[in-house]
Amino acid sequence: MQALILAGGKGTRLRPLTVYTPKPIVPICNRPFLLYQIDTLRRAGVTDITLSLSYQPEKIEQQLGDGSDFGVKLKYTVEPQPMGTAGAYKFAEDLIREPTVVFNGDILTDLDLKTVIRQHKERKATATIVLNPVEDPSMYGVVETDDDGRVLRFLEKPKPEETACRNINAGTYVLEPGVLDLIPTGENHSFEYGLFPKLLEKGEAFFAHIPPRTYWLDIGTPARYLQAHHDLLANRVTRFHLKDRRGNFDSATHSDIDDLSIVADECTLKPGVVIVNSVLGKGCYIEERARIENSVIWSHTRVGTAARVRDAIIGRGCHIGRSTLVGPGAILGDKTSLTDYAKTCA
Ligand code: GDD
Ligand code: MG
Repeated sequence: MQALILAGGKGTRLRPLTVYTPKPIVPICNRPFLLYQIDTLRRAGVTDITLSLSYQPEKIEQQLGDGSDFGVKLKYTVEPQPMGTAGAYKFAEDLIREPTVVFNGDILTDLDLKTVIRQHKERKATATIVLNPVEDPSMYGVVETDDDGRVLRFLEKPKPEETACRNINAGTYVLEPGVLDLIPTGENHSFEYGLFPKLLEKGEAFFAHIPPRTYWLDIGTPARYLQAHHDLLANRVTRFHLKDRRGNFDSATHSDIDDLSIVADECTLKPGVVIVNSVLGKGCYIEERARIENSVIWSHTRVGTAARVRDAIIGRGCHIGRSTLVGPGAILGDKTSLTDYAKTCA
């Protein structure tokens, strides 16, 4: 079994965070996101992994290298321009010899992938798609199935009147290499609008896998990016237990960091600082009496005296002035500078 991770999207919904950092390596609890997916694959014994890139590929290669630091073998394909999800799989054809696990590169999950692969083999499926139940499926692909788990219909981003089904495409597939023949060469093509409807039309063995009690989140919007942190901090994502929440940093005796928060190496926390349910990247400098709550701050950002940061995301190398109020929903890109007393909310 091999794997292909689709990691070529532009991450537009995560802007400004993705202006300098492509979505696949945005830090989640201070680790590049793709490492969570790589862990899931390695645990299921899949170590031959191709990353399918298009947007800022060199930054991703630079961070992950040949994969040896993470116990896997990484290869890369880089599309000259985005080829779509199925087009990206076709573009990697020369590297694909075996059945392949395909991941959307923006899903945080504690899926038991071994069981998915086993079920795919037992059913002799051509394609297996993992499903996840959600309340509002309008932003996803809806997958209708029969009682045996055969896929009956696939509807990408449906309107409410189009289906009552709440099971969505979780962005994890197992595909037999034969399906490559159904994808045109050198064209933009998608799984969602192209290959999946074609598999149904041809009556191929296209099955769904519905895992029991599984954490699942597409991290592709700021609200969900923040949610992923809160879920990991609260240990709601089983199989990913955070160790070492405390790096090697300087902290005044009169600062207060709750048990949930992560503070990375080389940070400085001055007296009276309060950190609650938050993540600080490497080398942040937090001045007297600043309070940071339910927030994520990337590396080398400075937060001024008595500033308050709540439910916000702050990028790398920012300067947040004294007595500022950075409020719910604020997303500040790398190198943002806020003057003293600035407010991003009432
Ligand atoms: N290499 C490459 N080339 N990767 C791509 C391309 C491309 O042209 N287009 C998208 N991707 C990658 C993105 O980087 C992302 O990891 C993944 O494919 C899915 O793209 P998104 O843009 O995040 O799609 P979505 O979230 O709107 O919808 C998809 O995911 C949902 C689950 O989160 C669909 O697959 C839905 O059916 C699904 O429910
Ligand atoms: Mg997505």
